[in-house]
Amino acid sequence: MASNSSAKDKLVIFDTTLRDGEQSPGASMTKDEKVRIAKMLEKLRVDVIEAGFAIASPGDFEAVKAVAEAVKDSTICSLARAVPTDIDRAGEAIKSANSGRIHTFIATSPIHMRYKLQMEPPAVLEQAIAAVKHARQYTDNVEFSLEDGSRSDFDFMCRIIEATINAGAGTINIPDTVGYGEPDEYGEMFRRVIENVPNSDKAIFSTHCHNDLGLGVSNSLSAVMNGARQIECTINGLGERAGNAALEEIVMAVRTRHDIYPVETQIELEHIVPTSRLVSSITGFPVQPNKAIVGVNAFAHESGIHQDGILKHRETYEIMRAEDVGWNTNKLVLGKHSGRAAVKARFDDLGISFESDEQFKSVFNRFKELADKKHEIFDEDLQSLIGHSDHTLADIYQFENMEILCKTGQSPHANLQLVVDGKATMTESDGAGPVDAVFKAIEKVAQSEADLKLYSVNAITAGTEAQADVTVRLESEGHIVNGVGADIDVVAASAKAYVQALNLLAAGKHKTHPQREGI
Ligand code: KIV
Ligand code: ZN
Repeated sequence: MASNSSAKDKLVIFDTTLRDGEQSPGASMTKDEKVRIAKMLEKLRVDVIEAGFAIASPGDFEAVKAVAEAVKDSTICSLARAVPTDIDRAGEAIKSANSGRIHTFIATSPIHMRYKLQMEPPAVLEQAIAAVKHARQYTDNVEFSLEDGSRSDFDFMCRIIEATINAGAGTINIPDTVGYGEPDEYGEMFRRVIENVPNSDKAIFSTHCHNDLGLGVSNSLSAVMNGARQIECTINGLGERAGNAALEEIVMAVRTRHDIYPVETQIELEHIVPTSRLVSSITGFPVQPNKAIVGVNAFAHESGIHQDGILKHRETYEIMRAEDVGWNTNKLVLGKHSGRAAVKARFDDLGISFESDEQFKSVFNRFKELADKKHEIFDEDLQSLIGHSDHTLADIYQFENMEILCKTGQSPHANLQLVVDGKATMTESDGAGPVDAVFKAIEKVAQSEADLKLYSVNAITAGTEAQADVTVRLESEGHIVNGVGADIDVVAASAKAYVQALNLLAAGKHKTHPQREGI
């Protein structure tokens, strides 16, 4: 039976791409990258953005602070362990937010309390209450999480929830930290907790599910069916190990099955795909083609029977419309004759704005270079032009041009022209393949001794004229950078990505794993 939309509760969407998503090995982000993603999340109308873990490192503190300053419409949150030093740092980081939240947590499962915390349950209870009271000195908006909640003792959980609500927590999160939960069991736990905790009506209950068994989204939605009204999730399901519940899947499930779910979100659906692309391009984590909602095949109907059905009546095989989530919004194809105004207008439509004329000018020049090589420029190409420009970087290395000699049965040879510190420099090398030859030639000059941690290639659009989008991840002395490069020539894209990674390392614009530095 279809439910009446006016009777629906609000489902709070809490995005933790910048915190739990960032904890995914290799996905760390710089401050500027976090601000860019946060502004996109604001446009998406995410309710709460968890911008980082302020105590984890000076870089993470600065990033939370910068997001708090840049974003006005979403609540900005910092994570903090249930200890005063963490909470003070979180309070300081969110100070300038229009609306700020402190999210404090402590583990409550027997296994975590005994082996990790080495604390008895009464001491954990006391620490949780003290943490919430301490956080309330900074903001009225305090969330308390019972880490490893889904494996915690039910009665203890109820006691700690009642006490932390009394201490001032407005949101109670019961995470499935290790992804062990199962939908019926996890949902039932929410129902029983809400029924048993006497003051449960004074708080919003939240889910936070990891995807170790591939059940993150199912578990989150089951909790919603049993009273949860906040979901913690990430773009593209990014996150530690197998990731977190994916925002786009949750939002579209709730929207598509509004006949079932008693809630609605305020998410602006058409920004889903652009946000997914931005996160993928910044982190260097490609989206698998068959990923629900944001994978390139998510709406591609190949089978003749399906295509026939869709032509006769769209709803025969389509439960959602691709354009609703931001696919194929391209009404205008751009090319080499397109002027500044048309290009600017298209960027505006995509929700991309420029901080200065200078910034737009540099992107427009790159657009013209691309349009010389490629007939039609699609939205994805424009997004890649933005994703691949870092306007604050004073480049030490610049890629100028290259010649690659390849012959079957012989080692490829690369001749490259670079500009190093303003000076034209030639370099060359053999390699196992053309990309290997290029990287070795660049290293002859740079001698960075960095380890190549990831090399990934993606086609930005379809067809052989498509640009290749290359990510090169380098690690040097514990510092990680992701260089990105796009070009219709995959080897040139690789050279650009490698050179950008070297520039990021040289400029100290590395990403640090939040839990490797400070704590
Ligand atoms: O997975 C988890 O338990 C967490 C908490 C810190 C909320 O990320
Ligand atoms: Zn988590």
